[in-house]
Amino acid sequence: MNHSAHSAFATETLEGLRAKPKRLSSKWFYDDRGDKLFQAIMAMPEYYLTNCEREIFQSAAPDLLAQMRGQAFDLVELGAGDGSKTQFLIEHFIAEGADFTYRPIDISMHAIEMLGSLIDRRWPQLTFQPVQGEYLAALDRLGQGGADRRRLVLFPGANVGNFTVAEAATFMLQLGTYLRPGDLLLTGFDLKKDPAQILAAYNDPAGHTAAFNLNLLHRINRELGADFQTNAFRHWETYDPVSGAARSFIVTQGKQTVHLADLDETIEFEPFEAISVEVSQKYSRREIQELAAEANFRFIRNFEDSKGWFADSLWAVGA
Ligand code: AVI
Repeated sequence: MNHSAHSAFATETLEGLRAKPKRLSSKWFYDDRGDKLFQAIMAMPEYYLTNCEREIFQSAAPDLLAQMRGQAFDLVELGAGDGSKTQFLIEHFIAEGADFTYRPIDISMHAIEMLGSLIDRRWPQLTFQPVQGEYLAALDRLGQGGADRRRLVLFPGANVGNFTVAEAATFMLQLGTYLRPGDLLLTGFDLKKDPAQILAAYNDPAGHTAAFNLNLLHRINRELGADFQTNAFRHWETYDPVSGAARSFIVTQGKQTVHLADLDETIEFEPFEAISVEVSQKYSRREIQELAAEANFRFIRNFEDSKGWFADSLWAVGA
């Protein structure tokens, strides 16, 4: 790849490493190895989010389909990943004879290919139109398709939590401009709960989360010709129960000079200097409703798991 043309990954990496304090965006975690590490995270007992949302999708499928009132619709999914939860919706919608097209959006081509083979295997009759890219650009491309069908847009997996609250409000407001009256949005929110439970989900003893975060440095080494000494970095997690922000950092143990050969740049690290790599924002029920209002949506209802740890919140377009 020619980085003199500067891909978005190169540009944002450079900006983040030059910033004070240093930061990198978690959206770049998901290369092929990152996808695999995230799968391992979702399978570990501490990462309760996946099971909670799976339970919600299983129980909410009939209510969600009823919302579409027998009309043909597009099932759009932002950040589809491996589709392991959405399959419960698809399964139910197909069993009920719903007329729908599945249009997942994901930044990772690898994730889309895995999803494609799952669909081929299980529901070869399903119309599957994936779009690879960042959420809003991909939604824009979907809109140009011109289909006038209603949309049920899924934004699952607490992906909204990887924005700060202010970023989430801006994003949801923008998202609304791509939707039409009659469209519905279902967003997964991880709810505020016992801080110990939350911290454990991001600080697992097996080290999957650490490997997931550090993989970003491996990616920069490989794709931007950098020479991070990845062994010198440690994963550090915090959770602030007031703001609801779980934050991940990677912290260098010693002084380090990193060359990014493809970008002709050198970055200095002081001992114990940290790079902020991810926020995983947790919400209260009130904060979810406030976000809907701020982003110009009408809150319809929350679907929650039996423990009350996770909510998929259904909103309609227009305040
Ligand atoms: C994808 N996203 C919602 C996950 C989260 O919980 O913030 C990513 C993740 N990071 C560490 N573990 C999982």
